[in-house]
Amino acid sequence: MELTSLSSLTTLLVSLQEGLLTITVNRPDKMNALNRSVFEELEKVLDVIDADKNIRAVIITGAGAKAFVAGADISEFTTLDQQQATQLARRGQLIFERIEKNSKPFIAAVNGFALGGGCELAMACHIRLAAEQAKFGQPEVNLGLIPGYGGTQRLTQLVGKGKALELMMSGNMLSAPDALQWGLVNYVCPAEELIEKTKQLLVAIVSKGPGAVASVIAAVNAHYEKGAEAYLEEVRLFGECFGTAEMKEGVSAFLEKRKPNFQ
Ligand code: COA
Repeated sequence: MELTSLSSLTTLLVSLQEGLLTITVNRPDKMNALNRSVFEELEKVLDVIDADKNIRAVIITGAGAKAFVAGADISEFTTLDQQQATQLARRGQLIFERIEKNSKPFIAAVNGFALGGGCELAMACHIRLAAEQAKFGQPEVNLGLIPGYGGTQRLTQLVGKGKALELMMSGNMLSAPDALQWGLVNYVCPAEELIEKTKQLLVAIVSKGPGAVASVIAAVNAHYEKGAEAYLEEVRLFGECFGTAEMKEGVSAFLEKRKPNFQ
């Protein structure tokens, strides 16, 4: 599956520059809300990301100045029964899990409102950067709902139980500076610098051994699935590195006082 197979997308914009794929959720008149079409297209783009070696890292952002993603598309909720709602949540979870467990690094460049499923999408990415005016929240309780795309778990992982419960029970929004203080985002910067700063960080990451970067992601994710056994997973992944050309190149380059040339 190649990037060219994505020419018919209607709710996502994708562009590839120097190995960095930018995915822009593009429904600015609806605050980039995640409707069925966005999910279908995210699944297609994820297939391409998995298959296309030219894609080395991914940025996810939202179109327009106001929103990153203001949640699931609430207008689609009126027709769902309990079973369909359960299926929707599972589908959302599986898509976001493909991001979280991807071997290629994903950064969310949060340019505005990241609410509900939008906050959950940002949290599924490996790292988050935010524009100064961005706002975060899990306002589902306002609708008589709870987060369903992994938010109850990932928010707790990122900010701790007390703060996660406060955000999810109150539905309050968090400013970008507060999100920084809470550990929900890594950096806050002016909106006009957001994409450039995100690219700078990704350029640094993709200059390292891609196999090692993938193993870092896998080892950190193991913490949340395997508990204390994740230490054994780290040991396994560490050992596996010694069988790679990448590790031989990295170590040789250091000893030969030159820059490594990772493939
Ligand atoms: N689903 C569907 N449509 C949405 C949406 C969502 N999650 N969020 C915003 N929209 C739509 C609005 O209905 C409106 O559409 P319209 O112009 O056809 O009426 C448009 O986007 C603009 O939103 P509006 O509310 O007028 O903008 P605002 O600047 O006053 O407020 C928000 C922005 C993000 C604070 C507000 O839209 C909001 O609270 N959205 C819902 C957030 C939410 O509860 N998300 C969790 C869903 S489970």
